[in-house]
Amino acid sequence: MFNPERMSDQPPKEEKPPMVKIESTRIYEPSAAIVELSKHRVVFVNKITPETKICLIGDGQGMDTQQFLQMGVNPENITSINYEQNEVDQANAKVLKNTGVEMRQGDATDFENLKNTGLTENSQEIVTLMHVLEVPNIKGDTEKNLVNNIVRMLKPGGELLISQYKHKFTKAERDLQKKIGIEKITAENLQKQFGDDWKKKFKEAYGLEWEEGMRYGEISNIRSKHELMKLFEQNFDIKFEETESEYVLRMKKK
Ligand SMILES: C[S@@+](CC[C@H](N)C(=O)[O-])C[C@H]1O[C@@H](n2cnc3c(N)ncnc32)[C@H](O)[C@@H]1O
Repeated sequence: MFNPERMSDQPPKEEKPPMVKIESTRIYEPSAAIVELSKHRVVFVNKITPETKICLIGDGQGMDTQQFLQMGVNPENITSINYEQNEVDQANAKVLKNTGVEMRQGDATDFENLKNTGLTENSQEIVTLMHVLEVPNIKGDTEKNLVNNIVRMLKPGGELLISQYKHKFTKAERDLQKKIGIEKITAENLQKQFGDDWKKKFKEAYGLEWEEGMRYGEISNIRSKHELMKLFEQNFDIKFEETESEYVLRMKKK
């Protein structure tokens, strides 16, 4: 959740939109693209070895982090950063317990914040960002900051794996959303984020009237293939793939 106290430590700059609470979209399953990766162990050209330095951003429940451990990557080479503190606590208490990897709370859109988690410039060989671009507030300057921060943390020639759903979920898919673990957008949470005027502000932000039962998949931030290419092509060579439901980008820092 948006933490005004933490944000107030930063120098005053352009006002950041409130962080919208959006947690994991899958219940205890690794990402399809990471399962695929575990078969050939290559994101772009380099083979993953025990020595590969990997940073996972936004691995809600720790399931993708666990996949890299199963691929034999040394735990000390894995950094797993996630925004939602309750997910971090749960991942550390369950999936990552006694694995040697501790997920850390951090905001990947803010490099100073990332430095507090121990991440440094030019330190990572692989970064993964699985279904994080869908988070509604990751747009505009926040989106640019996220991409710049990934470029900064990667070594020259470092590789980046990204997945993003191709479509928003619809109102008719609320049962499906529930089944795969996408949370309800509650009035209580919106009031915390936007204040008393939350209904109006929600409409302004997402172009939809809030209604009881609505889930976060309906306000996902979905980019087209063209928009994804534009976001990354300046800094990366890109292999673009797609499945029925998601876009997968395999990239190498230029
Ligand atoms: C839609 S969930 C996806 C979770 C998981 N990777 C998956 O594929 O199911 C988005 C995740 O990104 C994390 N997240 C959102 N904004 C973030 C940020 N600025 N920095 C780091 N993690 C963030 C959330 O905590 C959440 O776990």
